[in-house]
Amino acid sequence: MSTASSTAYNYKVVRQFAIMTVVWGIVGMGLGVLIAAQLAWPDFNFNLPWTSFGRLRPLHTNAVIFAFGGCALFATSYYAVQRTCQARLFGGPLVAFTFWGWQLVIVLAAISLPLGWTSSKEYAELEWPIDILITIVWVSYAIVFFGTVATRKTKHIYVGNWFFGAFILTVALLHVVNNLEIPVTLTKSYSLYSGATDAMIQWWYGHNAVGFFLTAGFLGMMYYFVPKQAERPVYSYRLSIVHFWALITLYIWAGPHHLHYTALPDWAQSLGMVMSLVLLAPSWGGMINGMMTLSGAWHKLRDDPILRFLVVSLAFYGMSTFEGPMMAIKTVNALSHYTDWTIGHVHAGALGWVAMVSIGSLYHLIPKIFGREQMYSLGLINSHFWLATIGTVLYIASMWVNGITQGLMWRAINEDGTLTYSFVEALEASHAGFVVRVIGGAIFLSGMFLMAWNTWRTARASKPAEYDAIAQIA
Ligand code: HEM
Ligand code: HEM
Repeated sequence: MSTASSTAYNYKVVRQFAIMTVVWGIVGMGLGVLIAAQLAWPDFNFNLPWTSFGRLRPLHTNAVIFAFGGCALFATSYYAVQRTCQARLFGGPLVAFTFWGWQLVIVLAAISLPLGWTSSKEYAELEWPIDILITIVWVSYAIVFFGTVATRKTKHIYVGNWFFGAFILTVALLHVVNNLEIPVTLTKSYSLYSGATDAMIQWWYGHNAVGFFLTAGFLGMMYYFVPKQAERPVYSYRLSIVHFWALITLYIWAGPHHLHYTALPDWAQSLGMVMSLVLLAPSWGGMINGMMTLSGAWHKLRDDPILRFLVVSLAFYGMSTFEGPMMAIKTVNALSHYTDWTIGHVHAGALGWVAMVSIGSLYHLIPKIFGREQMYSLGLINSHFWLATIGTVLYIASMWVNGITQGLMWRAINEDGTLTYSFVEALEASHAGFVVRVIGGAIFLSGMFLMAWNTWRTARASKPAEYDAIAQIA
């Protein structure tokens, strides 16, 4: 390794992951709009197996969570860990391997899911050879991340790195345990677990995929980029430490709230419910810590659309982590489960929190890694902010209306005990909401195209010498 490269941050991999975040964001959300259209107008299934809702839905979830969200997490964690540790990424060629390996996983998912190869576990659909590749890439990621922390020049490990670290370790554990399976062919395997145990392992995984992939990792992002963009220190460092330990201790117990009124033992369901209610406290502690970081900087919201993205993401985080514990209460879940209310909750978190905090962080990071003062156009960021906010609100409001309508129609009974409404009647009542969701999704997606254009113009304006100069370790 040359002297120059060992004294410079590795921004190349950050640039690669940042660009792919935007690309996979467009692909994943484009698929979201397509499957939303399929639910409103079934002709969009095109009468082909590969393009049917059943196959494209897992492609959407994998693309937005692991391709879009995953690339955003790689980009921001690699950027933040280097800056806060004042050290170049550890691992030499392993760093580039994490980029190309992760892209290969995504491409294999994009091929195998439409072909119908699936282990049928939600968010863990990919078949066993891809699972093995994911494990290898993820272990490499852990070596790079923790190696960088270990070789840091600073004394302290910044709290954002604690969240990124917990996310990396826990996702490794979840992935390996939930994907233990017996291969029967190259493209088919069966879970090692069966019955209620299988369901419990799956939702221990599923809920903690939310807790660690979609929450802890993005909180790491929040703890680095909110103070940076607001140019203020974190409101309370002590609260951030309490937040960290409370969140990681509690999340792991809440999985059974996905299995209310099933064959799972009743005590496990009640435990999941109680732990979910308690989870409100650390979630809001983190949200308040992020929001209060703006103390004395609120006026910046007037003309800083990047900060607006970050603050609104925290507001949606607060909203979805209030809604989640409520939905975990068994009597509420009796109404919400299986309905679009769940889908609304998911996207309040996914669009409002995960996507918005990623977009805000990337707008902060992209000019830095391309050696520019700021993004090509602040006006476009502002338009993107409004498109994202309006799109999210239309999506979740339509799903709340649909969810409650469906729940109430399904449970309505006549005096003689027969059902008041048929399933098809509830479906018909949902049609308007489905259409509004397509519109909301399309509005959100159009904002991503603005981002792609803005990123392209920012990247094109810079020369490699300029971004190498900015990568020197202070
Ligand atoms: C333009 C934006 C988006 C649109 C239009 C969209 C649309 C959809 C649709 C139609 C479904 C299937 C709902 C059903 O089966 O009834 C879905 C499911 C899902 N989407 Fe999205 N989506 C978008 C963005 C995202 C993003 C950014 C994420 C994550 C970061 C995400 C995560 C999910 C998840 C986890 C599910 C499965 C929910 C469940 O099983 O309960 N979506 N999406
Ligand atoms: C304190 C925090 C939270 C709690 C207690 C919670 C609780 C819940 C509950 C009770 C359900 C419905 C389960 C069912 O009826 O099947 C659910 C579904 C879901 N939540 Fe949350 N939630 C929280 C935060 C979040 C956040 C921040 C996100 C996203 C970023 C999220 C993503 C999801 C997803 C993807 C599902 C659908 C899972 C599926 O059925 O496929 N949740 N959550």
